[in-house]
Amino acid sequence: MAQPHIQAVTPSLFGALKTQPQDPLLALMTEFRNDPREGKIDLGVGMYRDASGITPVMRAVKAAERILLETQTTKGYLGPEGDPEFVALLKPIVFGAGLAQSERLVGLQTPGGTGALRLGAELIAAVRPRAKVWLGEPTWPNHRPLLNAARLAIEGFKHFDKAAQTVPFDETMEALARADSGDVVVLQACCHNPTGADYSIEQWRVIAETLAKRGLVPFFDFAYQGLGEGLDADAAGMRLVLDHVDEALIGYASDKNFGVYRERVGALFIVAGNGRASTAAYTQALALARANWSMPSDHGAAVVRLVLQSPELLRDWNAELDTMRARILSNRARLAALAPRLAAVVRQRGMFSQIQIAPEAVVQLKDRHAVYMVGSGRINVAGFRDDGEVVRFAAALASVNGDA
Ligand code: LMR
Repeated sequence: MAQPHIQAVTPSLFGALKTQPQDPLLALMTEFRNDPREGKIDLGVGMYRDASGITPVMRAVKAAERILLETQTTKGYLGPEGDPEFVALLKPIVFGAGLAQSERLVGLQTPGGTGALRLGAELIAAVRPRAKVWLGEPTWPNHRPLLNAARLAIEGFKHFDKAAQTVPFDETMEALARADSGDVVVLQACCHNPTGADYSIEQWRVIAETLAKRGLVPFFDFAYQGLGEGLDADAAGMRLVLDHVDEALIGYASDKNFGVYRERVGALFIVAGNGRASTAAYTQALALARANWSMPSDHGAAVVRLVLQSPELLRDWNAELDTMRARILSNRARLAALAPRLAAVVRQRGMFSQIQIAPEAVVQLKDRHAVYMVGSGRINVAGFRDDGEVVRFAAALASVNGDA
């Protein structure tokens, strides 16, 4: 007797899936790489570029890598906290001498700043799932997906007036007034991505007092320390806030200021009301890290640690960081002088500015002049290899149509 034909009833897992578009910023990176035109200019993804057009391995990083190669005796596991000495050495640089010593402050190594933000978001979702997260916009395009992935409810508010090229501070204050006690506020500590428009120190003071008075929890994204005005100056607003509040989270990246982008080097710091609470929060974060990536990869953090441990390498890293920042600032001054519509760029800080430009003009810049920038009008001011490229960009900009 013939066997009845057995039909598979399990629905296909992937059969009905639609293809996802690539992340626009990462797609732009690929498009630039594949463009064969000579003299193409990449103002897309946020990476520093030197006069030869490459993102260099910093001198101190190269030296530390040599030391690591010679001296590392094992590749055995660390733990979910990563390299504790890397975290300990970062503390005074990020927080200054005072808070760095406090038992209220704990930290663990993460895969880049993104890993730190994701871990912080998951910690918030675990301990206060109904908190709203307030987010000034425009912002780094990955903030919303990352917070959504942690199932947090997001409330947007306006961070930037594109026409005026400034921060409409009233909008921040209104958002802080509307937030409920216990809500979380994402704040970029410096070098605002994508606008370069940071809060002034007076505004940070008002934010600090308001957060404390209203019982709101700051969640800092601190990815560009040293690329705005200097290591301490770039941390000043955040430190002021931390002087006022009991609790905070800080997602920190070493990727940009050590130029170790692809190594993914970051840390999540947590500030709690006392040592017992910070220890408890730390153990919660460790458990979440274990469930996500188990342990962060070691190489980049070990290299940063070696730089921070050596007075000589530390000096050289500082010197090279100063050079990088000086180039960014001089590019800003040149852009503002060359094109009236870029006048505000000189007042903004860090790698990015978001200029007034119509989306069609962004496409024209790419098609006609091989100039790549983000559709929102964001330019990476650190992306010019030399002054000639700054001049060519300003001329190209003048030749395409219209403001946004
Ligand atoms: C950027 O904004 O260009 C960088 O932070 C890179 C990234 O991961 O988006």
